[in-house]
Amino acid sequence: MKLWGGRFTKPTNELVDEYTASIYFDKKLAKYDIQGSLAHVEMLNVCGIISKEDADKITEGLKKVAAKIESGEAELSAESEDIHMNVEKLLIEEVGPVGGKLHTGRSRNDQVALDMRLYLRVALVDLISLLGKVQESLLNQAKANLDTVMPGYTHLQRAQPVLFGHHMSAYVFMFQRDVERLQDSFKRVNKSPLGAGALAGTTFPIDREFVVERLGFDGICENSLDAVSDRDFVVEFLANASLISTHLSRLCEEMVQWSSAEFNFIELDDEFTTGSSMMPQKKNPDVAELVRGKTGRVYGHLMGMLTTLKGLPLAYNKDMQEDKEGMFDTVETLKGALALFAPMIESMQVKKENMHQAVKEDFSNATDLADYLVGKGMPFRESHAVVGQVVLHCINQGQYLLDLSLEEFQSFSNLIEEDIFNALTPETVVNARNVAGGTAKNRVEEQIEKASAYLKENKEWIEDKETIIQA
Ligand code: ARG
Repeated sequence: MKLWGGRFTKPTNELVDEYTASIYFDKKLAKYDIQGSLAHVEMLNVCGIISKEDADKITEGLKKVAAKIESGEAELSAESEDIHMNVEKLLIEEVGPVGGKLHTGRSRNDQVALDMRLYLRVALVDLISLLGKVQESLLNQAKANLDTVMPGYTHLQRAQPVLFGHHMSAYVFMFQRDVERLQDSFKRVNKSPLGAGALAGTTFPIDREFVVERLGFDGICENSLDAVSDRDFVVEFLANASLISTHLSRLCEEMVQWSSAEFNFIELDDEFTTGSSMMPQKKNPDVAELVRGKTGRVYGHLMGMLTTLKGLPLAYNKDMQEDKEGMFDTVETLKGALALFAPMIESMQVKKENMHQAVKEDFSNATDLADYLVGKGMPFRESHAVVGQVVLHCINQGQYLLDLSLEEFQSFSNLIEEDIFNALTPETVVNARNVAGGTAKNRVEEQIEKASAYLKENKEWIEDKETIIQA
């Protein structure tokens, strides 16, 4: 008989059991479900709702159930629908009818909301830690490439030269904001819904704060209807995960481009590339492509969750069972990508010479010629037009700015003097952008320093949280 079978005269249709069961995926919550139950049963005893003897039996029983689920010995069934009822059934098998006291003052509605939060807060810490490794690998590449000049692009057209270290550190800051978003969301995840009951609270004299204390929460969800009916913390996670995926995907796109023969700026290590079954010469950036591709499923989960929630009346509705697979899949998708990314970046070979060569073969120092004329007193709008003519002249001659003679320069403006040749070299051009956040070497060094300080803070945050989230 079902745990809730009392008011029914017929068993559920087998297809209904299969269709409504969540055990196939919510078994991932087993550890957290039991973590929550251990705190709940202790609280029931402390509040005088069940005896010490009963609480001890249930506690022992729950630990045995946890071990049996962990080892695969316990049989989880669709007939018991979800992880909550499977655990309860196994508990009763283990300790007898006293196991039936565990669910006093609790509903699966507040229980599942609790489990989701316990799961997610661990996932947040894991993801922040993995993001830290990616940030570190990017920082290492940044440090190793403080003299590597490459073409910087806008519209994928060569624009102005930048240091490759500057480009790498740009991603460190993007991922830093991702880390901060996850950290900020942690405080909204880390609230206890337990005690909300099915929707209205409970008649038992429970102590919600006791559970908060035991499980390391920052407080309770203040409204019982809200506690069991919202999954905004899941949406928020999926939105943050979508941004992480966006950032990863943009970097992937660059890695794919840079490793093409057309760019030839980097070579990915053999360990992180794959071959073709037909074309022997191929070395494909599959990992980068797949990470880029998996962005679609992460965005999909965000849209899915938002859509599931949008028409739901308060409080709990079975629709909300759809909150799990997308969240689990997103956590695993991101973990997989981030774990590969750090060593892939770390082992990436940067072809400095090719980047330098590319910079020499473009007009990315044109702004500097215009700025030079401004330095000699010409209004910028005017110098922009003059340099446009110089560039056009060069294009017609099949030349670049540094190929021109002083006489040729002077035929466009007699403000140009011998010092122009030094002013237009890639190194001068880069180091002239000596503004906070700019691409000059000393400015990139500042950025690296700032980023390293952030990474240190992130590590401290992780250490702080790790002590409270252990299941
Ligand atoms: N498996 C359910 C879920 O994930 C647990 C909550 C069920 N509550 C209920 N009243 N049927 O949402």
